[in-house]
Amino acid sequence: MLLSVIIVLTLLSYTCGDNPAIQMILTNKGLQYGKQTSVGWIQGKLGSLTVPDIHGGVDIGIGTVYYTLTGITVTKCDFPEPSVEFAPEVTGFRTSISGINLALTGQWFNQFGIIHDSGSFQAAIISVDVTSVLELGRDPDGHLSVDSASCDAHVGNVDVEFYGGASFIFQPFVDHFRGRIRAEIEMKICPAVKESILNLEYHLQAMNVSFDINQVLTLALPLTDSPLMDASSLKLCLKGEFYSINNPVEPPFEAQRFTMTEQSAYMLSVGLSEYSLNTASYGYYSAGFLQVLINDSMIPHISPVRLNTSYMGQFIPQLPKMFPGLLMTLQVYATEAPMFSLHPDAVKLCSQVAVKAFAIQPNGTQTPLFKLSVDSKFSGKMWIASGRLKGSMTMDNLTLTLASSEVGMFETDALQNMARTGMKFVVLTKLNDKLGKGII
Ligand SMILES: *[C@@H]1O[C@H](CO)[C@@H](O)[C@H](O)[C@H]1NC(C)=O
Ligand SMILES: *[C@@H]1O[C@H](CO)[C@@H](O)[C@H](O)[C@H]1NC(C)=O
Ligand SMILES: *[C@@H]1O[C@H](CO)[C@@H](O)[C@H](O)[C@H]1NC(C)=O
Ligand SMILES: *[C@@H]1O[C@H](CO)[C@@H](O)[C@H](O)[C@H]1NC(C)=O
Ligand SMILES: *[C@@H]1O[C@H](CO)[C@@H](O)[C@H](O)[C@H]1NC(C)=O
Repeated sequence: MLLSVIIVLTLLSYTCGDNPAIQMILTNKGLQYGKQTSVGWIQGKLGSLTVPDIHGGVDIGIGTVYYTLTGITVTKCDFPEPSVEFAPEVTGFRTSISGINLALTGQWFNQFGIIHDSGSFQAAIISVDVTSVLELGRDPDGHLSVDSASCDAHVGNVDVEFYGGASFIFQPFVDHFRGRIRAEIEMKICPAVKESILNLEYHLQAMNVSFDINQVLTLALPLTDSPLMDASSLKLCLKGEFYSINNPVEPPFEAQRFTMTEQSAYMLSVGLSEYSLNTASYGYYSAGFLQVLINDSMIPHISPVRLNTSYMGQFIPQLPKMFPGLLMTLQVYATEAPMFSLHPDAVKLCSQVAVKAFAIQPNGTQTPLFKLSVDSKFSGKMWIASGRLKGSMTMDNLTLTLASSEVGMFETDALQNMARTGMKFVVLTKLNDKLGKGII
């Protein structure tokens, strides 16, 4: 069954301290899906339940009959569907099961003075009800923590039949055994429930709160707050900050507060804020990934644009006169991390890039020619398809200015037009191809 998840890019309200950049809301629909998957697991556990031996003695007036019930195994188990609901009063889940029925078999031994006797028995445990309340919290490292808030177990009735030996002598004590077995089982249920909760807690504590997304970025996902709950949903606030794995520095901007509304049609909603996207961008930037060297051999042969000083003469007339017939290289790098901003209908992206142009001398020396600043603005959309976050980008504007020049001043309008065309038809076409295949 496919989990139905929505990722919403959320809008900001106002700045504040240690704010979460990712929020997750689990709805009742999601909770019920989780229940279905756990039922099978619990049934498996019950099947392998071992019931400890029961020992005791009954005073029959002329002495005491000592007995042992041993080798008790579960032969049949009816496990009705439990109910699971949010328990906002403790920020947790309340699970109730009523009407579990079990069939058991085992051996009995008894001793009265020097007389020993033994045989087998069958027991039915009827109408077992268990209610467990699990409480959620957050530990200082930001792990989700679980604890047992309360547990109640009630066994409705127990029937025992003894076979073999002089079991007719034994039968009068059945009422006594009934009570004993009932009490024994009742006493064992809640400790077993608490033990599985403790086991879950142990696994949660051992979980990492950071995950490597790829070879460049890691995503920190500790809880920033205790889980929040109302009658119909559970909300988790997560740090949601990306870091460069090799150069994990804090970005020069802070997370802003954002609110996300419950999407009850979905099992799980995940809200990403601008901050989360921008830390990813800053992570790539600080890892040194946002730079590229472009040379003529990387430009397709069919392209009319060539990276050589003769071709560039049409934009910079003095260039072929100063450096005739030389190939060029362009060093393109982000001068700042590209920044995302989220709007109701689109994701906006601003990038500032510098382009340094060099002429390659016949002896291989690269002679600096000029440096351009390119500011571009893009709009994009993101969506989820086939379980992946996908997107598309369009260019809103691109302005190109001359930042410095070793070859004198020149007009940049024609170059800007060429850059706009190149961005639209070459860069964005390739990028959209990638984004269309999925980002994460
Ligand atoms: C936790 O992270 C460490 C280091 O990144 C990794 O070696 C380890 O396998 C991770 N543990 C789990 C349970 O994912
Ligand atoms: C252009 O760059 C590519 C990749 O960096 C390199 O393989 C190639 O040799 C370069 N070509 C020239 C003419 O410098
Ligand atoms: C530079 O480009 C022009 C076309 O604009 C071409 O004729 C010339 O051969 C190129 N020069 C080099 C060195 O590749
Ligand atoms: C390479 O050639 C250029 C131009 O002819 C010259 O200025 C430079 O000194 C030369 N560099 C070396 C290392 O030979
Ligand atoms: C592009 O940006 C420049 C400078 O910021 C501005 O003057 C121009 O109006 C913008 N063009 C469009 C189409 O938005």
